[in-house]
Amino acid sequence: MYKTTPAVFAVEDTYQIMVRTEEKSFVWVKIGDQCFHDHSNGILRSNTTIHRITVPSTLLDKTGQYTVYKRLLIERKPYYTETGEISQKVYDFYPVKGDKIRAYHIADAHNMIDGPVRAAQAYGEIDFLILNGDIASSSDQLEDFDNVYDLCGRITHGNIPVVFARGNHDMRGKCAEYLEFFTPVSNGKSYYTVRLGDFFAIILDCGEDKADDSAEYGNTIYCHTYREEETGFLEQVMKSAEYLDKSIFCRAVIVHNPFIWQDKEPFDIENDIYNKWTQLLCGDISPDIIISGHMHKISIGNPGDERDYRGQPCPIAVLSELEYEKYFAGAGIEFNRNGKINITVTDSKGQIRDTYNI
Ligand SMILES: [Fe+2]
Repeated sequence: MYKTTPAVFAVEDTYQIMVRTEEKSFVWVKIGDQCFHDHSNGILRSNTTIHRITVPSTLLDKTGQYTVYKRLLIERKPYYTETGEISQKVYDFYPVKGDKIRAYHIADAHNMIDGPVRAAQAYGEIDFLILNGDIASSSDQLEDFDNVYDLCGRITHGNIPVVFARGNHDMRGKCAEYLEFFTPVSNGKSYYTVRLGDFFAIILDCGEDKADDSAEYGNTIYCHTYREEETGFLEQVMKSAEYLDKSIFCRAVIVHNPFIWQDKEPFDIENDIYNKWTQLLCGDISPDIIISGHMHKISIGNPGDERDYRGQPCPIAVLSELEYEKYFAGAGIEFNRNGKINITVTDSKGQIRDTYNI
């Protein structure tokens, strides 16, 4: 059985189709007459219940359909491995295109599923889903990763892309070091770019929200060096042909933590690195919007506002709110080729709460 519906994560110029399975099995995807397998340097993977199949975006966009195959493993042996029957399921796929692109943003769900799903349904049809960190409260057990797949399954049904960014709570617990196997990454990194139609996003990752030596982490965190490496990535992206492509009508930064705003102690970390990231984003062509969560309160701040500590290049939209296990609000975002971005905050009561125009 498939544990959840596949999630189709957008990463660079690929989709990473990720499938959770109940039993150890081999999983592959067929698009048109081409098959793509989950393998490790030519070895088909079976000793796992999460499978990642990477396919070219252009192919799936053009074909508009994919089939997920699963071959049950009975016993893996050096000779004559025994396998069971093959099952398959076909999924339609709708690529992002056009002059009006609609997405729904969820961050800080903290294990809530029904509330965020109701909030997303209140916004209606979307072209893609954004999961912007802290979807689970920690990564203490493998089942915590199911939160991501449950939301993707119930909102996208495997039919539209998902954009994923990591949150600080994702880095905590016994299974946090397996996060990279259960979520989309680019060459193992949790920061990368996304191109969906003429929408472009830079996925940034602030990592944890306190210093690496915070007693709360108990010697488990090594984010400072990771952020330094990420600076190099951002430098490359900001001058890349992909970012500067004139056909793009919206450039967004999707980052769990709105790092341009100053936070109070002990969250006031990495001034040099966050100033550098801000400076890079204020380049010749700045992003149109920075989309975040983490604050647990919906708020939108313009350049020069009170919270603008480092010199925002564009509005920052913090688009999640929650009262633990009681209330959730996320937001639909409509990106238009005419430059307008319309935000509609919806909540777990199934109601539209606010609208904002950027
Ligand atoms: Fe957070």
